[in-house]
Amino acid sequence: MSVIVAPSVLSADFGNLQRDVEMLNNSEAEWIHIDIMDGSYVPNISFGFPVLKAIRKHTKKVCDVHLMVVQPERYFQEFRDAGADVITIHHEAVTHLDSAIHQIKATGAKAGVALNPSTPVSVLKEVIHLLDLVLVMSVNPGFGGQKFISNSVQKVRDANELIHSTGSSALIEVDGGIGTNNAKQLIEAGANVLVAGNAVFGSDDPMLTIQQIKNAAE
Ligand code: DX5
Ligand code: ZN
Repeated sequence: MSVIVAPSVLSADFGNLQRDVEMLNNSEAEWIHIDIMDGSYVPNISFGFPVLKAIRKHTKKVCDVHLMVVQPERYFQEFRDAGADVITIHHEAVTHLDSAIHQIKATGAKAGVALNPSTPVSVLKEVIHLLDLVLVMSVNPGFGGQKFISNSVQKVRDANELIHSTGSSALIEVDGGIGTNNAKQLIEAGANVLVAGNAVFGSDDPMLTIQQIKNAAE
């Protein structure tokens, strides 16, 4: 059972971003996870369109854009034009979730919805058939390098159950505090995509760490 690894460039060296993206290009990571934080939905500010465009210029990998932004509908087309392949929004950040998902899909991007640690999977019941991705947050959003919240493993099982019982084809992505120590249990619970920031970019051998996360359940 293999998983897609999505290294989060939030933990990359921004002074050497091209070098770090080229390292990912040579690695077994299929996706690159790009965290957009607006200082309002979450307490932190990360980066915006110019950085996404710069990453896009140097990679053919799937650009997986995670919007921690209030009223993200304002920016879907702009993120798509800047290179997003997948656009994920937070359940709490939009007033009309069904409409927002349709708006993402209208740009041609895949659509995901993220669930904070305190948000149950059941909020997705009425929209699960529309989704390409369910993002289970395994830390409170806002910062890299936080401790994994262990309840997230059950949340992945719950998401898996909802997806299978409804015939949805959504992938399950898990984000926050993931590394070689906990990848196996998440894959076994049903995760398809694992985000890793600190574990990859804080490693002495990032390409090896990516490979170890990818093959953690074998
Ligand atoms: C947190 C972000 C994560 C973060 C993960 O708000 O959504 O994608 O970059 O970083 P690590 O793997 O260091 O927890
Ligand atoms: Zn993220």
